[in-house]
Amino acid sequence: MIWTKEKRYRRIEEVSGEELLKLQSKVRGCHWRQTFHIQPETGLLNDPNGFSYYNGEYHLFYQWFPLGPVHGLKYWYHTKSKDLVHWENAGIGIEPSNEFDGHGAYSGSAIEHEGKLHLLYTGNTRDESWIRHPYQCLAIMDEAGKINKLEQPVIDHVPYGYTDHFRDPKVWKAGNEFYAVIGAQRENETGCVVLYRSTDLQNWHFEGELQTSLSSFGYMWECPDYFELEDHGVFIFSPQGLSPNGDQFQNIYQSGYVLGEPLDVRTRTLTHGLFQELDRGFDFYAPQTMVGPDGRRILTGWMGLPEIDYPTDKNGWAHCLTLPREVSIRGSKLIQQPVKELYRLRKQQYDIKDVLLGEKKTYEHFKGTTFEMICEFENFNAEAVGVEFRAGEQEKTVLLYDAVQKKVVLDRTHSGEPVGEEYGTVRKCSVDGHKIKFHLFVDVSSVEIFVNDGEEVFTSRIFPGADSKDIRFFAEGGRALFQASKWDI
Ligand code: FRU
Repeated sequence: MIWTKEKRYRRIEEVSGEELLKLQSKVRGCHWRQTFHIQPETGLLNDPNGFSYYNGEYHLFYQWFPLGPVHGLKYWYHTKSKDLVHWENAGIGIEPSNEFDGHGAYSGSAIEHEGKLHLLYTGNTRDESWIRHPYQCLAIMDEAGKINKLEQPVIDHVPYGYTDHFRDPKVWKAGNEFYAVIGAQRENETGCVVLYRSTDLQNWHFEGELQTSLSSFGYMWECPDYFELEDHGVFIFSPQGLSPNGDQFQNIYQSGYVLGEPLDVRTRTLTHGLFQELDRGFDFYAPQTMVGPDGRRILTGWMGLPEIDYPTDKNGWAHCLTLPREVSIRGSKLIQQPVKELYRLRKQQYDIKDVLLGEKKTYEHFKGTTFEMICEFENFNAEAVGVEFRAGEQEKTVLLYDAVQKKVVLDRTHSGEPVGEEYGTVRKCSVDGHKIKFHLFVDVSSVEIFVNDGEEVFTSRIFPGADSKDIRFFAEGGRALFQASKWDI
């Protein structure tokens, strides 16, 4: 199918029931459908939006183009959960419908106010010359789950000095005031974020640009997020336009954070350390966080990237969200751990403990296409230790610790159907220590790997054949003691 502008901007109700059913059955026939990740029933999913806890449930919306695996007319799709593990589809949350969001209900965030969930998002519009005019809009959800939009945008223009790349408001409350950061591009085509303030979520005052030490760092900052944790200020954003630098910035676009002192909202100054990537895998972008009712800071991201074809495109759908992760701080780093509730997915448990001597071994019950696994290697003099999974005769995804270079390596060169190969098929990052712990969540077409209890995370889609189920542990050029536990999911 050629995705002309007309086709990309078709609304769901313009499509016949028959065409939708056909698309649904094409999607269902795809052997890469996930089993425990949020994924679209049809079409394309991108950024998580409006992640929040309201009225006894977690709410998580996502950017959605229903009609195919392309970035077309975006809706907010609504999912909800009582435990962060089992998600229920709740239907379309926000549809693009008026002169302020008619070309897409773009990304945004949610906050509870006066008993209702307020959804602040970017309305994307285009004029006859296809020039973009962004508005920041407000929709309000009541306890019955009904969502109403305000008739007028709450921020109706881009402030002077910035281009039409102005979007993705993330709102929070401090004292009696609300603040929002919005991703922006300066007229000199460098990325930044700006800060707004409000007392009622409807009238917003432009405060100015956030003062960071990253004055020329990519051409656009998408999906900003700011929060305070353990007395630190944490600022997350997704800069576009960074060049690869050693093992860093290998994907088409990046997502990362700076950690520093709490933001001084009066001077808008953020004193912070280095920009660090949140995830070292192939497919991670546009994360968003929320605070749970117990005070935990929880993050989820889009397990995909723009402008890359994925093997599921031919089946009429693309992408999923990552599992929710709890965020904390260790030293100068953000630590991300899968939320504890995920143990609810566990079925049968299998354990092994063994010594590997320059060899590769398989074990009974250590096989599968959907599982959680924790493996730890210690006392090793081997040059490399690791595990191959989703492995078959031809295919394998390789995760290893290179003890010579002191790097964790994820290799999807032979993972199955290729994806984004122009950005390379290996990802690495430095990790030091005498022990290495890998915590994996493998779904039908993805893997999330938490290294050393969340010090680093590698998130990636993989597209192996259904028969590639083997798990093989190895130690190269020496000895290693290892133990592993695996749970079927
Ligand atoms: C990030 C992004 C956002 C935008 C949304 C549109 O992936 O480009 O900046 O709001 O996607 O779907």
